[in-house]
Amino acid sequence: MSDVRPDSSGIVALSTAFWDAQVLLTANRIGVFDALANGPLELEAICEVIGTAPRPTRLLLRSCVALGLLEESDGRFRPSPAGEAYLVPGKPGYLGNAIRYSDNLYDTWGHLEQALREDRPQMANETYLGGDAGVTRDFVYGMHNRALGIGRMLVELVDLAGRNRLLDIGGGPGTYSALFAQRFPDLVCRVFDLPGVVAHAADIVKTMGVSDRVETAPGDYTVDEFPDGNDAVLISGVFHRETEAGCRTLIEKAGASLDPGGMLIICDVFTDAGGTSPAFATVFGLNMLLTAPDGGVRADADVSGWMKEAGFETHSPAHFPPPMPHRVVWGIRR
Ligand SMILES: C[S@@+](CC[C@H](N)C(=O)[O-])C[C@H]1O[C@@H](n2cnc3c(N)ncnc32)[C@H](O)[C@@H]1O
Repeated sequence: MSDVRPDSSGIVALSTAFWDAQVLLTANRIGVFDALANGPLELEAICEVIGTAPRPTRLLLRSCVALGLLEESDGRFRPSPAGEAYLVPGKPGYLGNAIRYSDNLYDTWGHLEQALREDRPQMANETYLGGDAGVTRDFVYGMHNRALGIGRMLVELVDLAGRNRLLDIGGGPGTYSALFAQRFPDLVCRVFDLPGVVAHAADIVKTMGVSDRVETAPGDYTVDEFPDGNDAVLISGVFHRETEAGCRTLIEKAGASLDPGGMLIICDVFTDAGGTSPAFATVFGLNMLLTAPDGGVRADADVSGWMKEAGFETHSPAHFPPPMPHRVVWGIRR
């Protein structure tokens, strides 16, 4: 009988994956990449800017080098090409705010066991939905950073030519609405979200130069009716925080707010039918378990089925190109 065992390296790497994550989160948080925005620096100069001690900082910086975030030569550190593109503030691809949002979740992930035993989130929902001003701001600007990348692809995948009124339910930072308004000059958008969130959205939309065609509407989608007269409704990043009944109600409310022929676009991280792939989507479901009372992840085929039952003619889901894990399920109101 063969005694060949499967490779253990994947399991070993998983057991320490949080070490690598903490290097990135800490470097981002304490300003390593900000310190290097204007050129390479020696260890002592970096320590002076970020207020840390040289011996441990050398260990951190060299880990950053090993993980591909920094480069070291002639005794000086500089961002790697990827670090320069995504970690230095002010760059168009800057991800620092999104990384700070992951950082805010680090302690919460340490309570996964309690979430399983208690069946409730380990971070209070209200904390990042207006309750804590700083955490809410990080959440909204983190969503904005991510949405800038994802949204540029979304506006390519979803054709709103000839449509005039988009309602963006749970529109968060307003980034998708602003990108749609930039792309389709006849489109007027309304970002519907909780009051503490849309307050930031108004500022973000202004920086994107479309505040004349993107307005904000404070409200609660579980309680308030949707404004009507729309020919498109976008519900993005919302289904992962709602029950099946909640998702179905949102589809029905969207249908009621759409004129016949109107388009409903539901964008999210979805699993395949059966819920065991792709891996990122399944683990994302746990992240939502930890942060929202009904948090989880949905299968795109289920969402499509609910839309069909609500009177939509549905189309095959569109997948974003890797590494983006998002998918779009869409349909036309009959
Ligand atoms: C993950 S974010 C998605 C933001 C944006 N649509 C996107 O895809 O990037 C979920 C959004 O739903 C909003 N939200 C949660 N509960 C809500 C409610 N009851 N009424 C309105 N908005 C809500 C949150 O404030 C947040 O902006």
